[in-house]
Amino acid sequence: MCLFVAVASSSRSYEDVDGDPHFMIELPERDDALCFNINDSPGTIFNLVRDPASGFLVNAELVAKKMKKGAVGGKVNTYVGRLGVVHQTLGVRLEVTTKGITLSQDSRQVKLLWSDPSALRGPGMNLTLTKDQLTVSLRDCVRFRVVRHTKVWRARHLKQDYLGFYTLESHRLSQEVHGLLGQFYHGVEFEVGDLRSGVASLYVKGHQLNVTRGWQRDFREDVRHGEQVPCWLVPSSGAGLIDGRASDYVVSGLFKTDRKVVSVIT
Ligand SMILES: *[C@@H]1O[C@H](CO)[C@@H](O)[C@H](O)[C@H]1NC(C)=O
Ligand SMILES: *[C@@H]1O[C@H](CO)[C@@H](O)[C@H](O)[C@H]1NC(C)=O
Repeated sequence: MCLFVAVASSSRSYEDVDGDPHFMIELPERDDALCFNINDSPGTIFNLVRDPASGFLVNAELVAKKMKKGAVGGKVNTYVGRLGVVHQTLGVRLEVTTKGITLSQDSRQVKLLWSDPSALRGPGMNLTLTKDQLTVSLRDCVRFRVVRHTKVWRARHLKQDYLGFYTLESHRLSQEVHGLLGQFYHGVEFEVGDLRSGVASLYVKGHQLNVTRGWQRDFREDVRHGEQVPCWLVPSSGAGLIDGRASDYVVSGLFKTDRKVVSVIT
């Protein structure tokens, strides 16, 4: 079977990170999506979005996936446990954890619990919180949603809360916007060809990558069940699709932009 998608520049795309963490770039105009997973150690903070023009920044911290007591070996899977959002021009700073939300604008600070439905309005900013969904609009800039998952594995007596980040509107951010998600805000050109025994070639950013067809859940609208979205899964933490390597996006703090320098002792 040969599957071929014409090259098209996509002016609109939706980017999100949720689950394990799974990253997904949805291109509704092409009715297609690209996705990749990044796993790292708990406590690692990744830059998702960084727009130097507006001072808009989104960072995500990983937390360990809970394991059954006594489970040994294997690698530790992670979820997004904490998000830091800054908009310098508007003086907004937002910290979202699985427990609650802390919003600061200039000298005022508000703390909200996920269980408190709220609607707040600040200069150039609107925030609404309904059950497990936080939606934030920032003037002339961006609209995003954070969803909180509360997952219970009854059989294993485990409960885990984690977060997902969904970009709803981003096209007005500057051309310099970058980050694991931000680099796709102005679209991405790609072609998919030669689907053979489940593996296809993805041509993107001058690379040819072997991808497989996968499914990801998009919880943007339906936090409980999500919507199944087919996507092309890029292996090796998105190598070739993202600029550089995943480790290039590790930052030193939840509200920091400087790269964390990892020294290797040999
Ligand atoms: C906030 O909501 C009000 C009322 O709906 C609207 O007029 C305003 O444009 C919104 N602001 C932003 C930044 O979305
Ligand atoms: C893709 O798969 C082909 C066939 O298995 C292999 O020869 C090639 O090296 C792979 N390319 C990459 C980038 O992994």
